[in-house]
Amino acid sequence: MTKRAVVRGVGHYLPERVVPNTEFEGKIDTTDEWIRTRSGIERRHFAAEGEHTSDLAVAAARAALEDAGMEAGDLDAIILATSTPDLTFPSAATMVQKALGMTRGFAFDVQAVCAGFIYAMSTANAMILSGQANRVLVIGAETFSRILDWEDRSTCVLFGDGAGALVLEGAEGTGTAADRGILATDLHSDGRFGDILYVDGGVSKGHSGFVRMLGKEVFRHAVEKLAATAHAALDKVGLSGADVDWIVPHQANLRIIKATAQRMQVPMDHVIVTVQDHGNTSAASIPLALSVGKAQGKIKPGDLIVTEAIGGGLAWGAVVLRW
Ligand code: UT7
Repeated sequence: MTKRAVVRGVGHYLPERVVPNTEFEGKIDTTDEWIRTRSGIERRHFAAEGEHTSDLAVAAARAALEDAGMEAGDLDAIILATSTPDLTFPSAATMVQKALGMTRGFAFDVQAVCAGFIYAMSTANAMILSGQANRVLVIGAETFSRILDWEDRSTCVLFGDGAGALVLEGAEGTGTAADRGILATDLHSDGRFGDILYVDGGVSKGHSGFVRMLGKEVFRHAVEKLAATAHAALDKVGLSGADVDWIVPHQANLRIIKATAQRMQVPMDHVIVTVQDHGNTSAASIPLALSVGKAQGKIKPGDLIVTEAIGGGLAWGAVVLRW
């Protein structure tokens, strides 16, 4: 018998305010056409004043718990991936813990920017397999609108706010790729590329700063590294692109999503795409896409899914799971 971390529930939350590309026209030197053709983004959601990352996370968590038929008291742990927490401390995860009324177990944040949800899933999986926790709520939640420079057209049109969550539970499997649950993970980072995507502020700098990105450089790394990490994760369980029912990629750029699918020889009708509606929501993008993919009736029990993401660090990775 082999233990597996199996998905029991999924949910998401998007702030009410929808901002179409046309809202940027006139404010900065850009067009709806440029944003659509270069990134695939058509609109994004922005959090309301006074609405913070933990608020988005709590709403997504409640939806995932309902989908799982569980209550907060059933959980052993909460792991929240974010680069935009409400406060420097306590963690946004403990704020979610409080809001859900969970008085036992433990909660903490993970910070790996756009790869944050991959890192959080991998951490949850390791804790479940090692017996440290059995039911783990894994959340990706961001309010990137708070760290955008509205005069920098090369970044401010690309990001959005949102949250998604998964409930994972330990279950016995057979040890084969036919098992439901997380089958393989693959993580990487390379700090030498820290200066191509970063925020130019932080706590010890005394100001929170804004996103800065050399888009073309990040694009080049993304196309090369995402397919490689997805293949590496699939290899670990003796699978290939031909076995994949759905790629659920980080939603940063439709051209990157297409290039990765092509390298993996997976047709685009087997890829969940939400970038047109959400923009780049960093750590929230994968759980948002999983939740939307399930709600659309695309992702079904037993489907083989590969998720992959890359972001600031650079940090990147992939998770293979059977839904
Ligand atoms: O989630 C973390 C990972 N992030 C990513 O994966 C993002 C990766 N990068 C990208 O998605 C793309 O590089 C971008 C969408 C950011 C940019 O697309 P690009 O095809 O690489 O364009 P570019 O940066 O080479 O810019 C082309 C031109 C430039 O003008 P010149 O120098 O050719 O005259 C830019 O100044 O487009 C200009 N430009 C804009 N024009 C209109 C940049 N931003 C805008 C804009 N509207 N908003």
